[in-house]
Amino acid sequence: MKVLSCTGMKTRKRRERVCISGKYRVLSIPLGHAPFSYEIVAVSAFLKSIAPEDLYFEIQDETLLCYLHRFDVDLHQSIIEEYSRVHLDMHYSSPSMNPFRCALADILAIGSYGICLGKRIYVNYSGERKVLDRNAKKKKRTEYFYAQGHEFSHIRNELPEKFLDQIICGDSLAVLRELPDNCIDIIVTSPPYNFGLEYDADDAGDAKHWEQYLSDLFAIFDECTRVLAWGGRFIVNVQPLFSEYIPIHHIISHHLMSRHLIWKGEILWEKNNYNCKYTAWGSWKRPSSPYLKYTWEFLEIFCKGEIKKAGPQDMIDITAEEFKAWVVAKWSISSERNMKGYGHPAMFPEELVMRCLKLFSYQGDIVLDPFNGAGTTTCVAHRLHRQYLGIDISEEYCKTAQMRISEKD
Ligand SMILES: C[S@@+](CC[C@H](N)C(=O)[O-])C[C@H]1O[C@@H](n2cnc3c(N)ncnc32)[C@H](O)[C@@H]1O
Repeated sequence: MKVLSCTGMKTRKRRERVCISGKYRVLSIPLGHAPFSYEIVAVSAFLKSIAPEDLYFEIQDETLLCYLHRFDVDLHQSIIEEYSRVHLDMHYSSPSMNPFRCALADILAIGSYGICLGKRIYVNYSGERKVLDRNAKKKKRTEYFYAQGHEFSHIRNELPEKFLDQIICGDSLAVLRELPDNCIDIIVTSPPYNFGLEYDADDAGDAKHWEQYLSDLFAIFDECTRVLAWGGRFIVNVQPLFSEYIPIHHIISHHLMSRHLIWKGEILWEKNNYNCKYTAWGSWKRPSSPYLKYTWEFLEIFCKGEIKKAGPQDMIDITAEEFKAWVVAKWSISSERNMKGYGHPAMFPEELVMRCLKLFSYQGDIVLDPFNGAGTTTCVAHRLHRQYLGIDISEEYCKTAQMRISEKD
């Protein structure tokens, strides 16, 4: 067996990046020698095991060329790795010197691709590229025009010590009024939906007239906007009461945009609760008034002042895989299963908050939930090394929230 040693070279020289040729993106991996027979055999073997419309290899002179169109991360990666392990790696001083593994690493390092039927597409995947003078047109249209004219300050104020890492029992409006402007990094919250649920300490029975509900909610949301720091994020989880035709997610978004927050986007939280009144059809098999069914809720995301939130690199805790998965704005997460155990009728699951915090905040950031309930936001914030302030009107829920944090310690 001939072991290829690369004296003075721990890894292959930085590869020529990529060029586009017809329907393929071409990656070049210098071999540094005339091809060995096992490399030529490998090219043929991959041609048989991977559809050449997706990807194939070729050797020209002393270079391995990888013609890449589509890539199935699970399938193609395992084919290349398995063949390398059995037939190739032993010929090189280390597996990382195997040029086919180098090609694989280069493919996986490419950050921009489309996705179709589970495969990554590397060429002509973006129809948007057909837009000419994109930036000039964007400027002409004026992005987030509704957020112009604000008077938000860049100055960051300290959250007083007495609010830091606290669960406070009280009316959010009153508590938030005690906070200085611009002292919170991120708000993750889910207000009462006005669905008529049985909350503790709620005289209105979660069923106010919608105008009253909105005016109470917006007074608190205006305080939230005030206490949010420049670049801070405001994430609101809501579900419209579809049966009363109240598009609360639109109404809230409209209000926050009128307060000059930038609408960053919307995440569809797919709860897969197919048991939602599937026997109620409205007008069965008649167009007069069929009910529409929803198995999901919404998360509306806003930014104060600007879209970017600066933060220290070493305080980022999201992995590459999490990032890639979660920027696809449809999250399939089951509802919280232990609401009975926590004694709260409308909790969101920890996974939902975890994704929001890792995707939109840094470790060390201050997280606020003005409708903290049984404390899902604060307990996840604490676990993820953020600081927190949770407010709820119910003493009982606040005790539960505090207990969940103590359990994590
Ligand atoms: C949908 S629940 C939030 C549940 C929470 N996300 C969780 O996972 O436990 C809304 C919460 O808002 C609280 N609440 C209602 N009005 C309030 C107010 N004015 N100030 C503070 N909390 C309030 C209720 O007690 C309830 O716990």
